[in-house]
Amino acid sequence: MGGQIVVFGATGYTGRLVAEELVTRGQKPMLAARDAGRVKALAEELGGLESAVADVSRPDSVRELVQAGDVLVSTVGPFVRWGGPALDAAIGAGAHYIDSTGEPAFIRRVFEREGPRAKEAGCGLLTAFGYDWVPGNLAGGLALRDAGDAASAVRIGYFVRGKMNRDGASGGTKASAAGAFFEHGYAWRGGRLVTERGAARVHNFDIGGRSRGAVSLASSEAFALPRIHPGLQEVDVYLGVGAAARAMSIASIGISAAIRIPGARAALQGALFRFIKGSTGGPSPEQRESTGTEIVAEALDPSGKVLSEARLSGLNAYTFTGAIIAWAAERAAAGGLLGTGALGPVDGFGLDALVEGAAVAGIRRSS
Ligand SMILES: NC(=O)c1ccc[n+]([C@@H]2O[C@H](COP(=O)([O-])OP(=O)(O)OC[C@H]3O[C@@H](n4cnc5c(N)ncnc54)[C@H](OP(=O)(O)O)[C@@H]3O)[C@@H](O)[C@H]2O)c1
Repeated sequence: MGGQIVVFGATGYTGRLVAEELVTRGQKPMLAARDAGRVKALAEELGGLESAVADVSRPDSVRELVQAGDVLVSTVGPFVRWGGPALDAAIGAGAHYIDSTGEPAFIRRVFEREGPRAKEAGCGLLTAFGYDWVPGNLAGGLALRDAGDAASAVRIGYFVRGKMNRDGASGGTKASAAGAFFEHGYAWRGGRLVTERGAARVHNFDIGGRSRGAVSLASSEAFALPRIHPGLQEVDVYLGVGAAARAMSIASIGISAAIRIPGARAALQGALFRFIKGSTGGPSPEQRESTGTEIVAEALDPSGKVLSEARLSGLNAYTFTGAIIAWAAERAAAGGLLGTGALGPVDGFGLDALVEGAAVAGIRRSS
C-alpha cells in the first residue's frame, strides 16, 4: 500500500523528538528500534503506535520496515558507521528516505553514490534534513533568489544564541562529530566539488552587532545550492566558534595531514568511538529553550561584493530538527516531493514551501 512513515532510531534522543512531533501533527508513524521492550513502550506512550524491531547489524530486519511509497526516517547514527542499511532498505523498496545526519562523508555518499540508484528506484533521498543543514540551504536559497543571475557565490554562517554548555549536545551528536572530525572535508569551488579540509577558512560575521568568528565546514549546501542556481561558482559554509576560529583552523592542518597516513583515520575514529558513545540522551526541554540559532547567508558577485543577505533566526537546533524532519516526512508521504534521487532541501520541496516548513519548525527570516 505505501505511504506509511517509519521512524528508525525512535528510542534515541532525536528519533523520539521526531516521533513526538509527528504525533502532535496527527500522524501515526511506525516506530522502529533495536530494543523490543523500549520501542514497544515508547509506541504505547505515544498513543498506541505500531512498532518493529530492526538492527543495522541485521540489514534484513531494516529492509522489512518499508515498502514502495513509504517514508523511512533514520536517526540511527553515527551515519558513517550505521547509516548504510537504512539507505539500502529505502532504495531497495522504492521508499522515500530522510535522515538526521550532519556528517560530511555520509552526505557526500548520498549525493554522489546513492542518488543515481534512488532515481532509478523512483524514490527521493533527503539527507542532513535537521538543523544540519536545512537552515543554511534555506537562507542561501533566499539570498540567491534575491540577488538573481548576478550572484556567483554564496557565504553562509551558522551561529548559536545563548550559552551552550557541555550538555547542550546529545550523545549521538558528540559521537557523530567525533567521527566527522577525522573525515576529509569538501567544498564547492570554481563551479565543482573539491576536497578541502574542515576549518580551512576563517570568516567573521556580524551577529547582533558583534563580529563573530567562524570556521569553514563541509555540509549539504555544497551539493544542493548549485542545483538551484546554475553557474554558482563558490559555496562557503561556516560554523560560528567565536574567538577559537583561528586556532581551530591552524590545528586542522595537522589533523588533515595525520588522516592522510594510511590506516590512521580508521584507527583514530575507532579509538574515539570507544570513548564517545551515543544513546546517552541530550539537552532537556528547559536547556533547549535557553538557546536559539541565527543563520546568515550572503550572495556575492564575482568581485566579492555582497548583493543580498538573508538572516534567519529561531529555536534550538534539536527542537528544530525534530520538527523539520516531521514536517518533511509528512509532506513526502503525501506526495509532496518535487523529484527523485538525492535532493537538497530547496529542490526537494521548493523554496516557498521550505520557508513555510522552517517557520512551522521554529526558524524564520528576520531580515
Ligand atoms: N542534523 C542535525 O542537526 C542533528 C540533530 C540531532 C541529531 N543529529 C544526528 O542524529 C544522529 C542521532 O542522534 P541522537 O542524539 O538521537 O543519538 P542517540 O540518542 O545516540 O540515538 C541513536 C539511535 O540509534 C540507535 N542505534 C545505535 N546503534 C544501532 C544499531 N546497531 N541498530 C539499530 N539502531 C541503533 C540507538 O538505539 P538505542 O536507543 O537502542 O541505543 C538510538 O535509537 C546522530 O548522528 C546525530 O549527530 C543531527
